[in-house]
Amino acid sequence: MAKKDKMSVEEMLAAARASDGSGSGGDPPAAAAESTEPQAEAPSSATPAASGKKPSAMSVEEMLAAARAEKAGAAASDKPAAAAPKPAAAGPKKKPGQMSVEEMLAAARGEKAGAAPAQPAAKASPKPAAKPAAAKAAAKAAPAAAGGPKDTASILAAARSATKPGPISKAEAAAQGKTVPTGKTKLAVPPMPAKPSYAKASTATSAERRGFLALTLGSLGVYLSSAVGIGFGTIIATNLLWLLGLARYMFPNILTEPPTKFKVGFPDELAPGQVATKFKAQFGVWIVRDEYDGVPQIFALQSVCTHLGCTPNWLEGEQKFKCPCHGSGFYKDGINFEGPAPRPLERFAIRLADDGQLEVDKSRKYKEEIGQWSDSASYVTV
Ligand code: FES
Repeated sequence: MAKKDKMSVEEMLAAARASDGSGSGGDPPAAAAESTEPQAEAPSSATPAASGKKPSAMSVEEMLAAARAEKAGAAASDKPAAAAPKPAAAGPKKKPGQMSVEEMLAAARGEKAGAAPAQPAAKASPKPAAKPAAAKAAAKAAPAAAGGPKDTASILAAARSATKPGPISKAEAAAQGKTVPTGKTKLAVPPMPAKPSYAKASTATSAERRGFLALTLGSLGVYLSSAVGIGFGTIIATNLLWLLGLARYMFPNILTEPPTKFKVGFPDELAPGQVATKFKAQFGVWIVRDEYDGVPQIFALQSVCTHLGCTPNWLEGEQKFKCPCHGSGFYKDGINFEGPAPRPLERFAIRLADDGQLEVDKSRKYKEEIGQWSDSASYVTV
């Protein structure tokens, strides 16, 4: 044993464990505390000797392996030969400095259990070796499980020798002894499934169906009469009104006046001195039977005041024409005698028509102040 003050930490640990295994007491903490300088002067443990290294040059793993080997080994823990198999167990050509931690641990455990030195190798190399071996075994087992070889040559040979997959020709079918269906062969058709209840024909009678149809059409007719019919009627009425307006637009706005010539009856229908007022409203004329310049005659007076154009009234009681506007007055023969009227009333042309009736022509007028009343066309003698 080296002196405690010259031992390294690892040496102190190895020595402590060796002493624990042998039952002898010790003072490792003290020794560890005392020895701080790495010295290989006294290689009491087998590790430095086995590896050929100085304790200061060994790794922790090497030191642990050496310690365990000494612990599980024989009493000759100081012999360098005891540590020698451990590195050889991990690999005869490996030095302890080249071994991995697992190898070192495996070697230590193997020695501890007294097993063969080959165990570390078995533990160190199972993983990489097991996978390729299993893969090769599976690759070999797969063709057998599939029923034949799977290499290219075997597959081609099997394809050429076996029956051609897919449809075959008639000649091939005949060669294989199979029956070839002809075009006249009737295929067996499976029976149709039974109809569900909702697909069966309705059991309603024809009368019920007609009633339903009539009800439907009636509803449709009511709908058309109420909505569509009203709509179409409105459209038609609008178009008619538009056409009527267009037709009225095509004609000019003209005043429809009464005819200028009209018949007022027979001369005998008028009594002497009578004034007929029934044509005033429609034609604006009085028919008078009276005397003018001592000549009995029938003439037509215009019912327009000569002052400003108002319509005078015949006053039977006063036997005169009276203008309501400014009070002008005219005698029965039409001569003005009161009021602002400047001149007598005017006459229309009158004559006896072919049928003997009196015919008035409003297109021609005769004025007394210029002597036109003496014209025979302005009166009819009776
Ligand atoms: Fe007849 Fe003036 S209009 S009197």
